[in-house]
Amino acid sequence: MTGRHASAALAALSLAACASEAHAPEVEVGAPPAPYLAFSDDFRDYARWDSRRIDGAAEGSHPAGPRTIYVKAPRGKGGAYPVGAIIVKEMNTADGKTFAMVKRGAGFNATGARDWEWFEIVKGETGAPAIKWRGVGPPAGESYGGDAAGGCNACHAGAAAHDYVMSRELW
Ligand code: HEC
Repeated sequence: MTGRHASAALAALSLAACASEAHAPEVEVGAPPAPYLAFSDDFRDYARWDSRRIDGAAEGSHPAGPRTIYVKAPRGKGGAYPVGAIIVKEMNTADGKTFAMVKRGAGFNATGARDWEWFEIVKGETGAPAIKWRGVGPPAGESYGGDAAGGCNACHAGAAAHDYVMSRELW
């Protein structure tokens, strides 16, 4: 290869790198997208993660009351959370539920909160956090703050510009 050909090839390579970087900043060029499958054990010590307490009023149709958000892994470059990031939201009320979102990646939940998987977390038999359900939304019969229409994606789509994370405290 002559010098001129080599530099043309290099230029083409770096152009290709830039183009793919713009769409997938977290993924190495040429690397296959890596999905992250969370299991109950991933939530084991969430009470010790970085946390924010919200004592807010109701937001939209979301119920009022104290709640705590726990975050594993901060936002990456460009404001998106990395694959493997986990956010847990505990409603600190008597009948409060605990929900979570995990950056699963690989285009999961493509028509909703892209790359995020939704979870409900309960206390398992040993008292440790356990997954009750997981997926692109709650199974039939489960709801969130009394609002099942559209599932989890409907409200969180409003925060698409913030990687589908609704809490202003995390923006
Ligand atoms: C009615 C609107 C609404 C629906 C439906 C909804 N959320 Fe949220 N969610 C919110 C709001 C608002 C926040 C911000 C924190 C707060 O005010 O409690 C939030 C926060 C969260 C958080 C903490 C991270 C963040 O985005 O701030 C998780 C995790 C979460 N929701 C999970 C779920 C899951 C799982 C479902 C479906 C079962 C769901 N949400 C459905 C409104 C909604």
